[in-house]
Amino acid sequence: MLGRFLSAENYTELLARGQHRSASLLHFEPDVMRSSYNRRPFTVQHQLTAHPLFSLDSLFTLCRRMPQEQILFRLGNIPGDAELETSYDRYKRDLTLADTLDHFEERQAYICINNPERDPEYQPIIEGLLGEVAAQTDAMDPWISWYSTYIFISTRDAVTPYHMDREMNFLLQIRGAKTVHLWDQDDDDIMSPEQKDLLLSRIGSRPRYRPDFEAKAMTYQLSPGLGVHHPFIAPHRVHTGPQLSISLALTFRTRQSDMWTDAHRFNARLRKLGLHPRPIGKSALIDQTKCNLARLGQRVHRMLAPVEADA
Ligand SMILES: [Fe+2]
Repeated sequence: MLGRFLSAENYTELLARGQHRSASLLHFEPDVMRSSYNRRPFTVQHQLTAHPLFSLDSLFTLCRRMPQEQILFRLGNIPGDAELETSYDRYKRDLTLADTLDHFEERQAYICINNPERDPEYQPIIEGLLGEVAAQTDAMDPWISWYSTYIFISTRDAVTPYHMDREMNFLLQIRGAKTVHLWDQDDDDIMSPEQKDLLLSRIGSRPRYRPDFEAKAMTYQLSPGLGVHHPFIAPHRVHTGPQLSISLALTFRTRQSDMWTDAHRFNARLRKLGLHPRPIGKSALIDQTKCNLARLGQRVHRMLAPVEADA
């Protein structure tokens, strides 16, 4: 399983770390954060561009020492509507990791390092960044319950196809340029309430791109030192510019987004029964009740499973 779950104690430590940091690496506009966090995308500034741990040499050294299953790689230039889940297998061709690292630009490759925070050298800086995020989100959205980070290294013209993740993200551009297209997660044309219920229940594949979405894209040009916030489940597609690019994604879930997830799961069950439930996001009280029922159902299921297995 990717990422790390945080207990209340873990979260308190992470938050304290972010609140007491003497020199911040992330710079948020407090008003923008308050008005836009988890509603719409917005840019943030950061100080990682000259950090030695994020140079290409350091990152390739990290790729060589990390467990190989944590390093995903493929050709960079793939269709923008390719399926994300299968893209690493489908567009790997005859690349090997060693060859990709030795001839990265020549092969026009793309590398995703999963969970660099598990490496003892990278853990302090990445957890410090997550602490800074927590210090900003805590007043509006207390308790980061899980996080997972990724470093993307791509050659020119690489594409991350259209998809949505089941969490929030701050994508920070460290080297080169990226164009990030984001779509409004609350636009029913982009994702219907039913599609969101299924997405968060992990039923079927993720909602697919349609060419008519293009007119609704919100486009951000990222250069080194700039990042963009992705609200919960906001669809996105990313294009690397004409040079090599390095970026860091800080993805996380909170108690609030876990509540939405479980409420969507409850809705998906109702849909299975042929019902047409009220979409999530219309009433906080009803969403909370649906979440509680989904969690109660899960507890009952766990209690009964061994009994039924014995019967
Ligand atoms: Fe993503």
